Amino acid sequence: PTALAGRHFLKELDFSQQEFLGLIELAAELKAAKKAGTETQYLRGRNIALIFEKTSTRTRCAFEVAAADQGASTTYLDPSGSQIGHKESVKDTARVLGRMYDAIEYRGHGQGVVEELAAYAGVPVYNGLTDEWHPTQMLADVLTMTEHSDKPLDETVFAYLGDSRYNMGNSYLVTGALLGMDVRIVAPRVLWPDETIVEVAQRLAATSGGQVTLTEDVKEGVRHADFVATDVWVSMGEPKEVWDERIALLGPYAVTMDVLRATGNPDVKFMHCLPAFHDLGTRVGREVHERHGLTELEVTDEVFESEHSVVFDEAENRMHTIKAVLVATLA
Ligand code: CP
Ligand code: NVA
Repeated sequence: PTALAGRHFLKELDFSQQEFLGLIELAAELKAAKKAGTETQYLRGRNIALIFEKTSTRTRCAFEVAAADQGASTTYLDPSGSQIGHKESVKDTARVLGRMYDAIEYRGHGQGVVEELAAYAGVPVYNGLTDEWHPTQMLADVLTMTEHSDKPLDETVFAYLGDSRYNMGNSYLVTGALLGMDVRIVAPRVLWPDETIVEVAQRLAATSGGQVTLTEDVKEGVRHADFVATDVWVSMGEPKEVWDERIALLGPYAVTMDVLRATGNPDVKFMHCLPAFHDLGTRVGREVHERHGLTELEVTDEVFESEHSVVFDEAENRMHTIKAVLVATLA
């Protein structure tokens, strides 16, 4: 068994720097083994339940492929296909699934739900995204950073632009601080992370040697950045009515070629957890286009398609890092 055997994976704050980096190392090993065709199956005969109360492409596929590669099987429960929360409480669902499965993944709204599942399931529970945190995404993003930069993480400058009061902003802030990065949140003040999260990040940075900056100034925020990241301006589960306000607030924080140039770093990399709004390839995109006349929002198509962009490496790494979580907690 590994040092993380039996552990939940609910939020970044539950992990020490060493534990987090151990998962990155394991993911890199598993990725290399898969590419070389030498992967060992550690999870034969295991069963994993995947509860999704919000939709997903990457997270669901990453769990299913990772489990299959490792010899485990999965059951996908879609946003309407289970009793959870409608006819059956979270506490009861946890105890039922815990009798049948070796682990449970949960994507949904409140962090409280995934915490409650974990409290009653009796098996490891993984957070596949809540309103507050997206911890498996952080593993993928950090693995991607180590692959695209020669700098150690504690010398890395990371700037996140956009809605910072939600899962991605929160997760980047605490993960950057945990790993000793120079992490900058670049957003209008009303969209900065909650004060309590900022305080936790500052405490982590004091130990890790990291630096935490919150700024409304794009140029100052991205100066010398190795990585510039963003996320959608309206997240899953948020009401449609916030679109107008977000577009007005976040327009100046879109990642454009000018923003990348403002880093002063010709090798700067662009990151996005995806899905992204950078063209008219989506229904939401076409609706926004009809209302606001915009064809791109948080990132320009030019940046998204440029050689700075590492978004598809990031997407692939969801699978390798989620596999590391499964192996570390279940093998
Ligand atoms: N990045 C991410 O979590 O993507 P999905 O919503 O497709 O799972
Ligand atoms: N903030 C986005 C992330 C999607 C992976 C959302 O919650 O919809």
